[in-house]
Amino acid sequence: MRRRRASGGGAGGVMCPWGDPRNAVRGFCWEPPQGCPGGGGRPKVPVPHRRARLASGTVTWCYDPRQSYEHNLAHGPSGAMAGPGVPLPESPPRHAVLGQALHSPFGIAAGPLLDAAYTTAALRHGFDIAAYKTVRSAAHPSHPFPNTLAVHVDGRLEADRVEPLVADDDLDHATSISNSFGVPSQDPDAWQPDMAAAVAAAGEGQLLLASFQGTRQGEGGMDAYVADHATTAKLVVETGARALEMNLSCPNEGTGALLCFDTASVARIAGTVKEAVGDVPLVLKLAYFGDDARLRAFVEATAGIVDGYAAINTLPARLVDAGGGQALPGAGREVAGVCGDAIRWAGLEMTARLARHREELGARFAIIGVGGVLATEHYEAYRAAGADAVMCATGALLDADLGRKVRALAA
Ligand SMILES: Cc1cc2nc3c(=O)[nH]c(=O)nc-3n(C[C@H](O)[C@H](O)[C@H](O)COP(=O)(O)O)c2cc1C
Repeated sequence: MRRRRASGGGAGGVMCPWGDPRNAVRGFCWEPPQGCPGGGGRPKVPVPHRRARLASGTVTWCYDPRQSYEHNLAHGPSGAMAGPGVPLPESPPRHAVLGQALHSPFGIAAGPLLDAAYTTAALRHGFDIAAYKTVRSAAHPSHPFPNTLAVHVDGRLEADRVEPLVADDDLDHATSISNSFGVPSQDPDAWQPDMAAAVAAAGEGQLLLASFQGTRQGEGGMDAYVADHATTAKLVVETGARALEMNLSCPNEGTGALLCFDTASVARIAGTVKEAVGDVPLVLKLAYFGDDARLRAFVEATAGIVDGYAAINTLPARLVDAGGGQALPGAGREVAGVCGDAIRWAGLEMTARLARHREELGARFAIIGVGGVLATEHYEAYRAAGADAVMCATGALLDADLGRKVRALAA
């Protein structure tokens, strides 16, 4: 693990007297040793979390969209996922993805599971793959609250849509939602020991998938950006993680473009990361590629380096409130990622195209299908399209029981 800083204290937190940096960020003692004044999960020190401003409702998601990211990190998971889980199957795992045995090739994609408390709860509720939310090489703040709104889409969201969509807090009936966080991360001093705990909590036939991304380093240019990816990947591997997912599909700092559309840079970064992590499987998280020739060129350039692709992240859309004003506050948030029901077509299409390229090229990479999986039949549609594994984010928020249902199917 990286050497801890003497000062401790991450994103505005208070150092726990027991010296665990996770607690500095969470603001209370998490699984404290006996006698810890933190009292085992109850707030030890009042944390200045921004209070919810959305209307109240009956939403019981593991990530509570009516609260800030910081509040969710300190207090989650919420809802059904905080309750008792289901036992692991007694029979041996029948599936394998990325060299890992799995009871079911299904789980929760990077995002809703903020830390080990979340990933462990997800694994115990029957999701056999749990992706730890994307981490960085240094602490990075979240975009301000709100981050997740209901997005009103009639049918499917086209990838090239220019007309705005109305987004609001009618979350009780949401099937498509916004995801506007800016990829926040704790400092490695906090996330490394927490991720190690998350890895250790995965049972037989389960996998903790560790998501990470690079961060632009001021004036450092491309060399520093490449190096930051490798540094972060090594920090992740130090936690014992058995599979990595490199996020290339959130706007990368300073360019407004998505890294996955820059094939030459991705090939260089992936090669450097692979050298740094050795045999640990590496998956690239992709956005939707509208241009299939571009996707083919991307696969040709990277399939010999990496072990798989996860697709898709979100589809972008301009979000407005009922009055036509910007729905999410702040500069650069006019357009946000939309996920859930409205983007399933795009995830299925990418899965089918990746499977075709794999066959035509005689390649052997894994395909993880993501996007709009809200029910078991959506999981089956992804498998039929060629996905080796399937993950959901919105679906797990709406139905904490979805992992158990898919596991029953996959048995
Ligand atoms: C609350 C939330 C947070 C997310 N954060 C991340 C993230 O940190 N890294 C990432 O690669 N994707 C992130 N995503 C995108 C998901 O991994 C997934 O690709 C996308 O939501 C599409 O799946 P879905 O339709 O099942 O939600 C996030 C999604 C949601 C809903």
